[in-house]
Amino acid sequence: MAAGADPAWGRVFWCLGLLRLVSAAAAAWDLSSLSCGFRALCECDFRPDLRGLECDLAQHLAGQHLVRQLVMKGLKAFVENPAPAKPLVMSFHGWTGTGKSYVSSMLVQYLFQDGMASPHVHHFSPVIHFPHADQIERYQSDLKQWILGNLTACGRSLFLFDEVDKMHPGLLGVLRPFLGPSWVVYGTNYRKAIFIFLSNAGGEQINQVALDAWRARRDREELQLRDLEPAISKAITDNPHHGFWQSGIVEDQLLDLLVPFLPLQRHHVRHCVTNELAQLGLAQQQEEEVAQAVVDGTAFFPEEEQLFSSNGCKTVASRITLFL
Ligand SMILES: *[C@@H]1O[C@H](CO)[C@@H](O)[C@H](O)[C@H]1NC(C)=O
Repeated sequence: MAAGADPAWGRVFWCLGLLRLVSAAAAAWDLSSLSCGFRALCECDFRPDLRGLECDLAQHLAGQHLVRQLVMKGLKAFVENPAPAKPLVMSFHGWTGTGKSYVSSMLVQYLFQDGMASPHVHHFSPVIHFPHADQIERYQSDLKQWILGNLTACGRSLFLFDEVDKMHPGLLGVLRPFLGPSWVVYGTNYRKAIFIFLSNAGGEQINQVALDAWRARRDREELQLRDLEPAISKAITDNPHHGFWQSGIVEDQLLDLLVPFLPLQRHHVRHCVTNELAQLGLAQQQEEEVAQAVVDGTAFFPEEEQLFSSNGCKTVASRITLFL
């Protein structure tokens, strides 16, 4: 595909100009005072830089126009509101390697001064935090206490739940009171918290919609949330192994945003290779060669059309090292 055909490129050029301006300005001004126009936005180490995030997503996130639009729109409305009516609750869905973790870490990096190292960013993974099915009650009471404690320390906290489809069904039920509009935590404004859930649930359904669109010669960028949302909701609520099972979270409509990650095509995998090489600070002349080698080593599906990468960009970083 020609670079000119991707509408994201216009934004990338705009962003590049902007970034240059900003970095020149940063030398003279205190950048944090720029992004903290309202004092209310600057609690704890919460320093949202949405423009930076938008630029980074436009430049580096491969093939996810919907993610860019939805996440930016949701964050803007939430972050710019000094008194949100409820916490921001986002659920990311999609196949392995389509960018769910990548986008969440980018988000954290542009929202909190210390990024992932911030004391107000909390990451939960089923394997690390909740490994044993027979201890679910203890996990539930721990989780509740952590969230209470952390929100009391800072209302602008972010809670990231990884691999929600591998969490014990019911575990996340304890979150339900924190995600809605009517819970009071020791006078803390817990409504400023952000919750992000990642799961592969709905991935197959998203892939099918993307494949049908491709077969019907519809432009991928024409896909809208409404084309995907019903299938994703159904995939979550029908799955008794998903962490949301009978938690009431979906039923009570506590999720503000369902964010679908589309399966990645060849040119997206190349985009990931370019990003990775740039991050390693490597010469561009090898780029074409390395990209070709990585794409050649990638499995694609469905068998007939060989359209989408079986593991997205997941193994790009590790495979690049084989060619250096
Ligand atoms: C905040 O959450 C972490 C887990 O991410 C937990 O270890 C810590 O005890 C919590 N802090 C409070 C004050 O509850």
